[in-house]
Amino acid sequence: MTQIKIFDTTLRDGEQSPGVNLNQLEKLELAKQLERLGVDILEAGFPASSKGDFEAVKKIAETVRNVSVTGLARAVKSDIDACRDALKDAADPRVHIFIATSPIHMKYKLKKTPEEVIETAVEMVKYGKQFFDHVEWSAEDASRSDLNFLAEIIEKVIDAGATVINLPDTVGYTMPREYGAMFKYMKEHVPNIDRVDLSCHCHNDLGMALANSFAAIENGATQVEGAINGIGERAGNASLEEFAVALQIRNDYYPYKTNIVLNEIKRTSDLVSKFTGMSVPGNKAVVGRNAFAHESGIHQDGVLKHAETYEIITPELVGVHSNNLVLGKHSGRHAFVDKIKQLGYELSEDKVQEAFKAFKELTDHKKEVTDDDIFAILTDIQTDTSNVRRYQLEKFVVHYNSNEQPTATITLLTPIGETVQKTADGAGSVEALYNTLDQIFIEETHLTDFQLNSIGQGRDALAEVHVSLTVDGDTVSGRGSAQDVLEAAVQAYINGVNRSIYRMKVK
Ligand code: KIV
Ligand code: ZN
Repeated sequence: MTQIKIFDTTLRDGEQSPGVNLNQLEKLELAKQLERLGVDILEAGFPASSKGDFEAVKKIAETVRNVSVTGLARAVKSDIDACRDALKDAADPRVHIFIATSPIHMKYKLKKTPEEVIETAVEMVKYGKQFFDHVEWSAEDASRSDLNFLAEIIEKVIDAGATVINLPDTVGYTMPREYGAMFKYMKEHVPNIDRVDLSCHCHNDLGMALANSFAAIENGATQVEGAINGIGERAGNASLEEFAVALQIRNDYYPYKTNIVLNEIKRTSDLVSKFTGMSVPGNKAVVGRNAFAHESGIHQDGVLKHAETYEIITPELVGVHSNNLVLGKHSGRHAFVDKIKQLGYELSEDKVQEAFKAFKELTDHKKEVTDDDIFAILTDIQTDTSNVRRYQLEKFVVHYNSNEQPTATITLLTPIGETVQKTADGAGSVEALYNTLDQIFIEETHLTDFQLNSIGQGRDALAEVHVSLTVDGDTVSGRGSAQDVLEAAVQAYINGVNRSIYRMKVK
């Protein structure tokens, strides 16, 4: 069995998804979950792009120990220096240097000749090698590059010290047979190619990202790059959970294995969608809500008689448990602390106390508290930014009558410690609440998107709201979860404004 390394770029390419902006605490929680998932390499960000990204990469590098952490760098010294500084305390650091190799990118974007591109690539790989044992070099837009030129530059960067060569399908343009042929060509024409791992990185513009990744490993790639839930630039990256599960299910066909802990997939997917606000479509392979639902009578009958008639993946394989009722109203602190450990969380004593209080409050409203509910409480507490001054909800009232305009009254504690109460109306209850909040905020706030989901199933499932906002021109997302839909909506709006304030503070 050939080992395929999994390179996760949820926090870098994934974070480049339109409308997504994760803060440092969220990135750290995701990094810890990706470590539990068993990815081999974690691309934590692009340290030279902003102070916030630098700090997030640094914090992740200091925290996770069982995964190699990398940062992205353009082929310029200052970007590589930023990676060196951000990754200095990583257990197993690596730098990821990229430069474009396609004619269109070299001519119009880089304004360099092919010879200049080779010179820069070689020089920067040598520079990176002074600080890193592992240097990944990417030929941006490789799939639209000239194969002879690609072979020439690859041979030179390997001689300069690169240990991984990545050939991205940057614009998601290639078809599987073509993409596979590029890997085969490099295997056959680059004399020193066996000294490195060959890596694929596929975008999904034509829906080929996963098929292209398989074509690459069929032709010699030993590393696959992608993102959880397939998020990323434009149509996204190859979906890592789909890749890992497909390899597992078709191990009769493919002699490859990965280190992915399959039953951590669902939780990782949920966390990514919660933090990014990008909900997973119901019919998405492996992690979609309907992935294991059988609707037609013929299918249901077949599954009841013998599950494998229509079910090729069991929900349990990816960590979906139909009956994960865990704790209830009468569960004590001891059982709760055990559950926190079981879920892989390490919390300070204060935070355990806070989480236990939130759990008890939840059991007042919800009979069945599941692992998912507890996980939601823990992630909210771990990513809470309350050490920064912020708006806090004290109470709200909504008057709704189907024949009149709804009105809302909200009492809020402001960042300067004042208690303010306002009233406003709107065409619907949520609009009335948001109009009221707008009267209290000193920040100029506009709502650009609103999404409502449920966490778990049943009438008493928690409501989760994601909003996209502009706050004083800053694009930001916010989320809130609560038993009540209106409360989740209010919390999400306040959370978005607080996240913007937090971002300004740590920028
Ligand atoms: O898609 C791409 O080409 C990239 C590179 C920076 C690796 O994300
Ligand atoms: Zn990419």
